[in-house]
Amino acid sequence: MASYIMPTYFNQLPVMFEHGKGAWLWDTEGKQYLDALSGIAVCSLGHAHPRITKKIAEQAAKLIHSSNTFLNKQQIDLAEKLCKIAGMDQVYFANSGAEANEAAIKMSRLYAKKKNIVNPTVITLKNSFHGRTMATLSATGAERIQIGFEPLVSHFVHLDMNDLAGLKAYLKQDQNVIAIMFELVQGDGGISIADPEYVKSIRELCDRLDLLMIVDEVQTGIGRTGEWFCYQHYDVLPDIVTSAKALGNGLPVGACLARAKANNLFGPGKHGTTFGGTHLVCAVSLEVLNTMEEEGILAHADKMGRYLQSKLRQAFADNPHVVEIRGKGLMIGIELDRQAMGIMPLTLKHGLLFNIVANKVIRLLPPLIISEQEADEIVKRLKLIVDEFLAS
Ligand SMILES: Cc1ncc(COP(=O)(O)O)c(C=O)c1O
Repeated sequence: MASYIMPTYFNQLPVMFEHGKGAWLWDTEGKQYLDALSGIAVCSLGHAHPRITKKIAEQAAKLIHSSNTFLNKQQIDLAEKLCKIAGMDQVYFANSGAEANEAAIKMSRLYAKKKNIVNPTVITLKNSFHGRTMATLSATGAERIQIGFEPLVSHFVHLDMNDLAGLKAYLKQDQNVIAIMFELVQGDGGISIADPEYVKSIRELCDRLDLLMIVDEVQTGIGRTGEWFCYQHYDVLPDIVTSAKALGNGLPVGACLARAKANNLFGPGKHGTTFGGTHLVCAVSLEVLNTMEEEGILAHADKMGRYLQSKLRQAFADNPHVVEIRGKGLMIGIELDRQAMGIMPLTLKHGLLFNIVANKVIRLLPPLIISEQEADEIVKRLKLIVDEFLAS
């Protein structure tokens, strides 16, 4: 079939969704699917959450957009709430995760200028994913994202996650490092989790050497791991944090938060975007945060994450082809001993939605509102799918 859409997504599954409710989606044929992907960690409150639907309609009926030429009450209120839950001082609003990270990278360049570093290096990690703009794909530690777009933005160095000795050795040889930017749980990289000692040491190194610690919480943030932000499990505060995805529960939003030495790096005229922080997106994002708080979603995500992970471990305990099950909260990876892209058509057959990362890892990102029965159903359907895939 001829398509007017540029073919940037390969192997799109032949299904179109028409409506959703909670953790469930229905396609145009009326078939029902259990959503264990949440639009890739976006619809954390589930589909058609009544409070979010109501807020969208109310705010859209009042005012969608005016522009950053003017003050904006919804933006001010969201900024205050976000800074409070994050332990940060200031926020810049963008429209996506990549844009939030682009802002963080630009801020690191301005910090370097303050310190008279002409050619600043930003350390990022192998297997990381930070976005698809030129700077963020250059920051990303995966060649498949970069191939074809050379020359890349220079001065990104990719080191191994959890290799403290390697990080220290690199810092000794390069006096121009200005920032260390990383995910605490690499999502696209295969649900790889940063060690507590490694993260604590990064904080100490950033303090001692006056570097910026930039944590990309685009996927891990807003309750996904059972805390507002994943760094809250590690008892450290970054200098810059980026957020997006679940913040808008489906409306496009990004945020780059700063504190202390990273404050006020963006002065007037240094950065901007037409759509960042519209009345509509900010009103809805604030409603997302208030709903999560009032409905106790963080504790629920933590509880359900433990429950789902333990049920998955039980279900796959005797399966020699399941290499490891790992995760934090409701960000869970099931690593198989083989390439797993071929499993995807079975997701439609058995009505369970997830995706594959790092070729071999089944990534589960269910809505944070799932019930125990829904978690049991995820395990039941996933077992059928994995067994059928391995037998094929
Ligand atoms: C950790 C991380 N950073 C950045 C991005 C890019 O976000 P976006 O797709 O909203 O530009 C993603 C998207 O998957 C992500 O997982």
